[in-house]
Amino acid sequence: MTELFICLLLAVAIIILGVSLLILKVINIYAHEVLNPSPFATKEEKEQQRVDLDRAKAILPSKPSILEKIMGLKPISEEKELIMEHTFDGIAELDNPTPAWFMVLFYGTMIFAIVYLTTYHVFGWAPLQEEEYAIELKQADEAKAAMLLKPGNAANKINENNVEITKDAAELKTAGILFKSTCAPCHGENAQGIVGPNLTDAYWLHGGTVKEIFKTIKYGVPDKGMIAWEKTIRPQQIAELASYILTLQGTNPSGAKAPQGNKL
Ligand code: HEC
Repeated sequence: MTELFICLLLAVAIIILGVSLLILKVINIYAHEVLNPSPFATKEEKEQQRVDLDRAKAILPSKPSILEKIMGLKPISEEKELIMEHTFDGIAELDNPTPAWFMVLFYGTMIFAIVYLTTYHVFGWAPLQEEEYAIELKQADEAKAAMLLKPGNAANKINENNVEITKDAAELKTAGILFKSTCAPCHGENAQGIVGPNLTDAYWLHGGTVKEIFKTIKYGVPDKGMIAWEKTIRPQQIAELASYILTLQGTNPSGAKAPQGNKL
């Protein structure tokens, strides 16, 4: 919103500037006319003036165009003045000046360097990349904490310390669907175990209580190939998944992977 407002202000400022310049120009012409009015000229005199002006223009050397100025080029008519003394095989070299665009860039980088150095390293007016990153992380943490504290987000407050088994059929059903789409590639359609361990037996690597299962799903076991799901799956859903996994206890699916870990 503020950005839009600033843009609007800028646009208005530019328009006011343009109008003022126009008014100044008009005043200038008017004052000029009042102080030394151009004498009245007959048709023939006007014609004569135009002819004189054309003649004067033809004699004067042509003015370089804006492009030529920016590129630092001399008009072709002046090229013979630029030819350097040496030639090779009849090829001469032109001593063109360094183009304006290059000089602008060249001095621009110097000015930028000075401004940058003083701003970031000498006076520390602005945060360096790493500080900026830390500040943003802090802001994000605050925003996250604020979001979790919202009363509407009670579900997001579930964590490994307060999670409880749910017996809600609808919740378990959605958890089952999520399990089949997200977890089955490693744990199998029926949690019988593929890359990941069998989740239907009484043996657990990281504990088989709902709190421990919640924790394993949330933080994963990154070294062993179990993903930390806390960034992609909401706490409520992780809780449902943990409960769902516990409903699979003893289902003894076909092709079950050999037990891993300790018996609960
Ligand atoms: C990329 C493969 C992969 C995916 C996808 C995956 N897991 Fe795992 N999971 C593993 C591996 C490997 C382990 C064993 C970790 C170890 O050896 O410590 C594991 C372990 C577990 C454990 C602990 C088992 C125990 O014995 O303590 C649970 C619970 C679990 N996964 C649940 C899930 C759930 C729920 C999902 C879906 C949201 C999921 N996993 C998706 C690979 C995966």
